[in-house]
Amino acid sequence: MTAVVSPRSVRLTGWGRYAPAQVLTNADLERIVDTSDEWIVSRTGIRERRVAAAHETSASMGAIAGLRAIRTAGLEPDEIDLILVATLTPDYWMPSTAALVKEAIGNTRAAAFDVAAACSGFVYGYATASAYIGSGLARNVLVVGTELLTRFLDYGDRSTSILFGDGAGAVVLSASDEASSPTGIELTTDPQGAYMIWLPAGGSRSPASADTVARNQHKIRMEGRETYRFATRTLASTGLAAVEKAGWAQADVDLIIPHQANIRIIEAVAKGLDLPLDRFFINVDRYGNTSAASVPIALAEAVNEGRVKPGDKLVFIAFGAGFTSGAVALEWTADPSRGPIGEAAVRPEDVAIRQPVDWDSADPIPPALAEVLARPAPGRMDVSDVAPGDPPHAPRQVG
Ligand SMILES: CC(C)(COP(=O)(O)OP(=O)(O)OC[C@H]1O[C@@H](n2cnc3c(N)ncnc32)[C@H](O)[C@@H]1OP(=O)(O)O)[C@@H](O)C(=O)NCCC(=O)NCCS
Repeated sequence: MTAVVSPRSVRLTGWGRYAPAQVLTNADLERIVDTSDEWIVSRTGIRERRVAAAHETSASMGAIAGLRAIRTAGLEPDEIDLILVATLTPDYWMPSTAALVKEAIGNTRAAAFDVAAACSGFVYGYATASAYIGSGLARNVLVVGTELLTRFLDYGDRSTSILFGDGAGAVVLSASDEASSPTGIELTTDPQGAYMIWLPAGGSRSPASADTVARNQHKIRMEGRETYRFATRTLASTGLAAVEKAGWAQADVDLIIPHQANIRIIEAVAKGLDLPLDRFFINVDRYGNTSAASVPIALAEAVNEGRVKPGDKLVFIAFGAGFTSGAVALEWTADPSRGPIGEAAVRPEDVAIRQPVDWDSADPIPPALAEVLARPAPGRMDVSDVAPGDPPHAPRQVG
């Protein structure tokens, strides 16, 4: 699908992110699978990733990020009339994670549904929100990307378990009476790649059974090289299509917020777009691949670190299972100084997901992960020193 020139002006007014406090380093992974820090850093650029605590879920992390985005926008939760949650790790098959987020943020009037487009989900959600606002169906839309991938990884598989991490990011899009600024959106889906990244069991093709569990079919599987080829082939062309739809030349772009899957993929996109790497925001070293959460987490950090000012031309680009890809080109109009206000206004402990009555779920943390996180490790930070949800490190660039 290609589009969108909205008849009604759409502005990005709020942004927020949440990162769980627990850090899993490459050294930790060396104790779980046959890998090394050197291999992971040189092949991916990843140094560490976050791991959600047992009480956290995709909905709880998404609700914190979402509420922060609402506060950044200067809105009350009930001013949101549509909630879209992009995730491939929903709390349940049903209800939607969006319904749980709606309740947790204290919204009583929004429609809410999930968006399934894997790592491109946030960009697909952004496009959907733009269309709702542009057509007059909604005025303020919350778009959340949230993922709890560490519970869906095979810690016996070194090619996937090193890549992914947990977290959430969100934006608020609002109808505006100001004139439209140029926007370009490009979305693609290539089902040739349907089984290149997938989670085989648990769906109607192969419902959960003792057999599917014994065969380890509830974990993410991936053909790394094919996925890499798709990403490097597609991302630059998807980004370029969005830039052209906005009526810009690629040299006009001030900052690209790419899906944070692998530094080598980002470098290849920079080459493909003929842009220097310093026009790309990079935090893959600290979070790994957080799938649908990756672009909105990176956006919130880029804005809060002073990398974005009004009038800047931004491009979000993402790719993921499906294969899907998507890009949004937009002109930044919000006051960047509002980000830290929204972040400070919402403490993680203030947001709770209501539990079902009389339900005692199993311990959600994979045993291999629980074991390594429980052991003291040389150089492991003491997370009790860190405010919940705050990254412990100063921003750092790789590459
Ligand atoms: C996964 C990925 C990092 C692998 O890097 P690569 O350079 O393609 O590596 P290869 O798969 O060719 O493997 C090279 C060797 O490293 C080994 N290897 C794989 N993972 C390893 C690890 N974690 N540690 C050490 N060695 C590893 C392989 O077994 C292989 O060994 P061999 O040559 O003896 O068979 C890379 O393919 C990639 O990033 N793909 C895209 C993944 C992605 O972005 N997925 C999410 C999409 S949203």
